Amino acid sequence: MELRTCLRAKQLSIRWQPLRASHITLSQIAKTMTRTAFVVLALVACTAMAADETKKAEMGPVIGIDLGTTYSCVGVMKKGKVEILPNDQGNRITPSYVAWDDKDERLIGDAAKNQATLRPTQTVFDVKRLIGRMYSSKSVQHDKKLVPFEIVDEAGKPMIGVKLGGADKTFSPEQVSAMILGKMKEIAERFLGEKVKNAVVTVPAYFNDAQRKATKDAGKIAGLNVLRIINEPTAAAIAYGLDKKKADDASGKKAKEQVVLVFDLGGGTFDVTLLTIDNGVFEVMATNGNTHLGGEDFDQRTMKHFITVFKKKTGKDISGDKRALQKLRRECERVKRALSSQKSAKLEIDSLSEGEDLIETLTRAKFEELNIDLFKKTMGPVKKVMKDGGVEKDDVDEIVLVGGSTRIPKVQELLSEFFNGRKPNTGINPDEAVAFGAAVQGGILGGEAEEETKDLLLLDVSPLSLGTEVHGGLLDVLIKRNTVIPTKTTKDYTTVQDNQNAIDVTVYEGERSRAKKNHLLGEFKMPLIPAKRGVPHIKLTFEIDANGILKVTAVDTGTGKVKVITVSKGTGRLSESEIEKMAAEAEQFADEDRKFRENTEAKQALEHYLYGTTNSLDDEGLKAKLGGEHETLVNIVKEASKWLEDNDATGEKADFDAKKAEVEKIVKPAMKKFYGGEGGGDDGEGSSFNDEDEDEEL
Ligand SMILES: Nc1ncnc2c1ncn2[C@@H]1O[C@H](COP(=O)(O)OP(=O)(O)OP(=O)(O)O)[C@@H](O)[C@H]1O
Ligand SMILES: [Mg+2]
Repeated sequence: MELRTCLRAKQLSIRWQPLRASHITLSQIAKTMTRTAFVVLALVACTAMAADETKKAEMGPVIGIDLGTTYSCVGVMKKGKVEILPNDQGNRITPSYVAWDDKDERLIGDAAKNQATLRPTQTVFDVKRLIGRMYSSKSVQHDKKLVPFEIVDEAGKPMIGVKLGGADKTFSPEQVSAMILGKMKEIAERFLGEKVKNAVVTVPAYFNDAQRKATKDAGKIAGLNVLRIINEPTAAAIAYGLDKKKADDASGKKAKEQVVLVFDLGGGTFDVTLLTIDNGVFEVMATNGNTHLGGEDFDQRTMKHFITVFKKKTGKDISGDKRALQKLRRECERVKRALSSQKSAKLEIDSLSEGEDLIETLTRAKFEELNIDLFKKTMGPVKKVMKDGGVEKDDVDEIVLVGGSTRIPKVQELLSEFFNGRKPNTGINPDEAVAFGAAVQGGILGGEAEEETKDLLLLDVSPLSLGTEVHGGLLDVLIKRNTVIPTKTTKDYTTVQDNQNAIDVTVYEGERSRAKKNHLLGEFKMPLIPAKRGVPHIKLTFEIDANGILKVTAVDTGTGKVKVITVSKGTGRLSESEIEKMAAEAEQFADEDRKFRENTEAKQALEHYLYGTTNSLDDEGLKAKLGGEHETLVNIVKEASKWLEDNDATGEKADFDAKKAEVEKIVKPAMKKFYGGEGGGDDGEGSSFNDEDEDEEL
């Protein structure tokens, strides 16, 4: 192994450098930006069938769960086909509700929702709005006012307070979500007739690390191994197979990236996401929405209408009667659903209040009139994502509808009008599309996918480059941005000073060439046995596991000493917006960064050359052969070293290159005479210095 050495490190805080460039062989996927990016990789189909079968049996079925704010849905892939699984009531979606009845018995799903108004303080819902958030956050403080159950502060976390056995009891949002996930697991187990251990769970695209991690923890509490957390809009696009649209068309011409608009109007929230899919890589370009707009608001409007009608007809005001309101809410939701497929529907409630029935017909036209302003409100976020994503209406290739409320014909009509009559993708129930996509992903991971999708694996990518600071303040990248994870890279490093007793190993994420301009994730000191510069040999390994957890290991190969640090996603890693900011900054400062790298590399090339030459000139044999010329050469190198010291901070690439050429012009011919063609420097290694550094531009 060739050792590379340098003249001196001087005041530099980092006194180590790469020993040898190693290539990262994993495919580098361009163009994805965020932590929420995914990539579909073609796997080499060489695994033996037997191995596949064993793995399949061990894993069991991998279910896909859409854990919604108001409703959850579970699906599974069996022999290449996705099935959405009905619950014990025969419903394909299950309310994300947990309640405790008067005997303290726990109810989950339909049973919990059905008694919601009767036991409001004991009925918990909308926990997705709380998960992974701090109690003091604006969002939690806002939602606290809207829900009838108690939310209390425990060590900064919002906790849900209920009464059990006469005492106060608190549950974390993770625990409540776990109860819902547990219910979905149970639905699947009942349907499949076997135990389920693994799942893919979806989250909104805007969820940050803490929210994703908390969702994963909820799975763990529920006894589920969450193999992957994927974005809801991504899952919906997968459900429609948009990721499989051929990257190359029949003529072999490369297809352009697709722009997909996912319009998700659910029970309580409205999200619009603009995605691009390029060669199987999903990128979230923009998201927008309204955290308090959905089916429940439409139900409210209808309820208000019928409270007035009932009052007019019977003189009775039911607005304070919880039992009556509960009956009315259920019936209004049922009628709303019916109106999505028929022009009018009958509302029938026996003995709504004091023996008086409510029997009315609601037309679709009236329902639309009651809600039109809310329906129109959905267009705002659509315009906003298009503007943020910098795309025109014609640039949008596919429109995907998600969420039960997109079944409302007027909502579809408004969206279609906005896109000049274009029709959205249909074929998969909008309230099942997310669970469908999650089940596809689960099927792929569990080996249940059919031939054409079998070789596709949806994977995460690292959102920012990861590297360490080396000599000259440069960031030496070990894992490039957008590398598919899990991934592992090892590089060799050495010292640049004699008798260094330690090196500082830093771990940065970011795209700037000057290490300090990036985000520091961690650092540690690696003690060394003092030796001549270039002699110590440290192997540094960066490894990211499937959950985005980074492990950095340094091994001193001489002594066998090992140091390890781990950086998990949530702890100290950047949020999505910070990542975007860093990526934007990297572009903004691209020129400055390039200059810094070029200057540093040119400076190091000169340092290296001078150091090598000094070493050669120390050789007694050479001294004797050179005679009087020896001193001239020594002086030239000394002068150049002095010049380098003076210009260390301010010199530019051109200056360093010129100085190197100037010294070489004199040294080379003199050396040539004695070494028969070899230049000065470190046994000829100096000439390969620049080439190697080019390799390092991974
Ligand atoms: N046929 C239908 N017509 C109109 N609305 C419907 C229909 N079917 C379901 N819905 C409404 O869809 C809503 C539930 O949608 P979905 O299951 O997508 O919610 P969610 O995922 O829990 O919500 P969120 O996206 O807010 O998390 C409910 O308000 C329900 O009344
Ligand atoms: Mg939803």
